[in-house]
Amino acid sequence: MSDNKKQYTKAELDKMSNDELARLGTELDGVTVAYRKERFPLANDPAEKRAGLAVGTYFALSVVFGLAFIAVYLFWPWEYKHLEEAGMWWHTLYTPMLGVTSGLAIIMLGMGAVKYTKTFVPEEISVQTRHDGPSDEVDSRTLVALLNDSWQTSTLGRRPVIAGLAGAGAVLAGLAVVLPMGGIVKNPWKPKAMGIAGDGTLWTTGWTLVEEGKKVYLGRDNGNIAEEHDGHWSTKGISRLVRMRAEDLDAGSMETVFPLTEEMVNDGDKYDPQRDVYKEHMHSIHGARNSVMLIRLRHEDAQRAVLRAGQEDFHAGDYFAYSKICTHIGCPTSLYEQQTNRILCPCHQSQFDALHYGKPVFGPAARALPQLPIAVDEKGYMYAKGNFAEPVGPAFWERRS
Ligand code: FES
Repeated sequence: MSDNKKQYTKAELDKMSNDELARLGTELDGVTVAYRKERFPLANDPAEKRAGLAVGTYFALSVVFGLAFIAVYLFWPWEYKHLEEAGMWWHTLYTPMLGVTSGLAIIMLGMGAVKYTKTFVPEEISVQTRHDGPSDEVDSRTLVALLNDSWQTSTLGRRPVIAGLAGAGAVLAGLAVVLPMGGIVKNPWKPKAMGIAGDGTLWTTGWTLVEEGKKVYLGRDNGNIAEEHDGHWSTKGISRLVRMRAEDLDAGSMETVFPLTEEMVNDGDKYDPQRDVYKEHMHSIHGARNSVMLIRLRHEDAQRAVLRAGQEDFHAGDYFAYSKICTHIGCPTSLYEQQTNRILCPCHQSQFDALHYGKPVFGPAARALPQLPIAVDEKGYMYAKGNFAEPVGPAFWERRS
């Protein structure tokens, strides 16, 4: 084979037409074209026009669905609406519409490509023998010629509408994949108004409201949902979060609590069946950095707890409150093991010692779980008497361990 190639000088190759080079390429590669048939050998064949229309329709639909995806992504009402709130139905369609439009854009593009290949690219059966060795000049030149030949025989070059639609469809289908990533590109240092989920920065939580002079209770999630009254659903008088009392927890147990400001309270002596605080409660529960594990140690265990310097008064008797956000990569450290007083993160098995200010004792987490300073008020309700002393969550911060 290589001897065969040496017969061609650069000057000889320069003189050859694309067709000749393509033919030479197949020969040199040991490829035999056993069968080849043009799809539309006659010019101006009406069948070719019909086929072009069918292919163009697929690509045009791909463009339409690609544009529809972008329109849905940018303009469809996406913000959460709860039951019976105006626009709830439209909101629930947001994700399905993204899926349907992007899926159809990609499917139409694929169907157009398949249809094009089956309709316009010549039918061909080629047989090639295998051979080894690096490519040389003649291989490179003939390969380019073969690619040129494929482009010409595909007839795409003289079908600018189909080529344009296919290109636009491919770009839009690609955008359907890439565009949603725009939503996760955020400036983590850009604060919004401070609310029950923090101000949007990574170092604030709902508990930060304590620093603004607000009283923030430890709210337990009782799982209440909307109730049906006279044929319609209402969250009036439904308190998803209720203030936690010290006696609500048994010794050696744990409860997940969320920030509950004085204005959001609708329980006990403050209960008003006409008030609707459900939405704020849900915002608190959904606050990414809000959840806190309230642990009531067994009294004998609490006696031997090692308190962190500067945080000696963060606990209230036997009650210790630690951020539930793992300092490894932010999973909820949901498991508290009473016998060993260890807190376990199920994601990568980090373990933290509840008797030792939440410091990591096993696994990939390197920093202690931040501790929330808590107290019990004169009515017996538990509240945060301060904010966390450090940012909660993954340990990319410069912070004390
Ligand atoms: S996120 Fe908790 S161990 Fe990895």
